[in-house]
Amino acid sequence: MKRYLFMLFIFTFFLFGFTLSLYALSADEFLEKVKFTGKPVAKKGNPAEGKENYAMFCTNCHGEKGEGNGPVASVAKMDPKPKNHTDGKYMNERKSEDLFKVIKLGGKGVDKSVYMPAFGMILSEEEIWNLIAYLRTIAAPPYSGN
Ligand code: HEC
Repeated sequence: MKRYLFMLFIFTFFLFGFTLSLYALSADEFLEKVKFTGKPVAKKGNPAEGKENYAMFCTNCHGEKGEGNGPVASVAKMDPKPKNHTDGKYMNERKSEDLFKVIKLGGKGVDKSVYMPAFGMILSEEEIWNLIAYLRTIAAPPYSGN
């Protein structure tokens, strides 16, 4: 189990480095690379499947419970910190389409911290909607929107 966690840690660090390399691209080259085709249309995802990918790809920065305190974030001294996804006051105000964009395009794509990686090359659109469905289940106060 320890070994598995270590591998995951290394993987996240790799992902993080890779994201920094995207920084050198122009906005157009970047959009082409992540194959962003236009406006996202919100879909209902499956939170249970989202939870699995969250544990795999997100918890090293966003924390095991999504509180924004994962180990890679503290080692890399990220500023701003990864968002606390359990903070319903903030998260419930965010539209699902906007969350989709952040996850697909990364922070760079939406004028947020470049430390938030672009997952457009790793996750399918369906997997991203599953992640959003999961995020909606961990917010307190609970999410009651679309
Ligand atoms: C390498 C670290 C890292 C990883 C891995 C990571 N994030 Fe982030 N994420 C960040 C940081 C840093 C921010 C804060 C960006 C800012 O506020 O400018 C952030 C912000 C966000 C936001 C908030 C955007 C907003 O509207 O304010 C969402 C949603 C998000 N991440 C989802 C995810 C999901 C889902 C995953 C896994 C598929 C993930 N992140 C993986 C670092 C990471």
